[in-house]
Amino acid sequence: MTEAWEVSYDTQIPNNIGLSSDRRVLKALEKWHPGYIDWWKGSGPDGFLEDLVYLRTAISVDPKGWAKFDYVKMPEYRWGILLAPQVEGRVIPCGQHYGELAWQEVPGEYRSLMRRLIVIQGDTEPASVEQQRYLGKTAPSLYDMRNLFQVNVEEGRHLWAMVYLLQKYFGADGREEANELLKRQSGSEEKPRMLGAFNEETPDWLSFFMFTYFTDRDGKMQLEALAQSGFDPLSRTCRFMLTEEAHHMFVGETGVGRTIQRTCEAMNAAGITDPNDINAVRSLGVIDLPTIQKKLNLHYTLSLDLFGREVSTNAANAFNAGIKGRYQEPKIDDDHMLTDATYPVAEFTDGKIMVKDVPALTAINMRLRDDYTNDAAGGVKRWNAIIKKHGIDFELNLPHEGFHRKIGVFEGAPITPGGLVLSPEEWAAKRDEWLPSKADGDFIQSLMVTVREPGEYAGWIAPPRVGIDNKPGDFEYVQIYDA
Ligand SMILES: [Fe+2]
Ligand SMILES: [Fe+2]
Repeated sequence: MTEAWEVSYDTQIPNNIGLSSDRRVLKALEKWHPGYIDWWKGSGPDGFLEDLVYLRTAISVDPKGWAKFDYVKMPEYRWGILLAPQVEGRVIPCGQHYGELAWQEVPGEYRSLMRRLIVIQGDTEPASVEQQRYLGKTAPSLYDMRNLFQVNVEEGRHLWAMVYLLQKYFGADGREEANELLKRQSGSEEKPRMLGAFNEETPDWLSFFMFTYFTDRDGKMQLEALAQSGFDPLSRTCRFMLTEEAHHMFVGETGVGRTIQRTCEAMNAAGITDPNDINAVRSLGVIDLPTIQKKLNLHYTLSLDLFGREVSTNAANAFNAGIKGRYQEPKIDDDHMLTDATYPVAEFTDGKIMVKDVPALTAINMRLRDDYTNDAAGGVKRWNAIIKKHGIDFELNLPHEGFHRKIGVFEGAPITPGGLVLSPEEWAAKRDEWLPSKADGDFIQSLMVTVREPGEYAGWIAPPRVGIDNKPGDFEYVQIYDA
């Protein structure tokens, strides 16, 4: 008998769930596997199937040493099914079943609600790989290229994680959903991915960094909420996914930070003190700070939309059923059922923003979104510290919750990043001051040159402070195959 955190390789699919003795699920996954590989080849990183990438692969779920690093061709990555070890006697942390033993099977009455949540989570994983498909070709360094691919293979593994749950616990419907996950395509007209932000383009590397900082962080919050699930296999799956997710946000935070750093260094070297002198800054071949703020505005607001409507009966039902909890549920000091509790939610009526207390049970999405905003503010603070250190008078800010929203209370509302209500015409006239314009996009695109010399970096981004796996600065993170 292997320990719960050890991974066994006795089937084609590495796992710590005893897959070799679960013939039905093993067969279903083996049947799904070729379609997944086809999807990877057709929708994963374009043009890098033969190259050796220095990747980490999960070989254990022990927090003290769960990964190993080695050169791998991406299609040969060992995507596995890894669940955090079962906690003996774990109880349901919220809702009407509060305190009951966690379920090892899906209760019949919650089957469709649970399946839907798993499918939505699963759909985001391959979507982001599709969105990032062409970025490898303009990587600013081998280090960044490797980080992109690391994020990509792990999102692939997260798809496996959700597919396992569907195949194991949801019978024929689950198999059907697992196949559909490979058929929808980010940005497709006929069969788009399920959520808005996952159908947007990721046209350049600054977008990629903003995406991994802001949108992967939505992923983190959703996984945190699902890790509280009374359905134990879902909880355990999500707990292990969170270990991987941390790296994605690291890539985002340090990527944006290095971009800012390079801009500040170039401004200082050229003696430019006005951060709003966009043409002067751009002539240095770096991205001006106001444009970085616009990118931040875009990706932050797209990510806010992923939390759904502020007041939601679906979210209330999921919480009440014990399927999805709140961020760090066990640490919250209340009855965990929200019998009489209220929660403040903004309203937008007759052109006015007002905050109203609503039953907390219905405001579960809003609460998770507030936790998200707090979490996201940390990195913005650190980015501002970089700007300040260089003596430049500029501050990045998270925009108001009502700015540029497509879902919920503020859908389509003409609100500025500062929270002022304008007329729709005024708002439209100022749009390009707050969100990336075509010209901004073209400028950033003009900087996206490929750098493939080990240890060298494109001019718009500073090198990282430390290498991956403590490798030296000139380490060859990707060995490009030359045919
Ligand atoms: Fe993920
Ligand atoms: Fe991620």
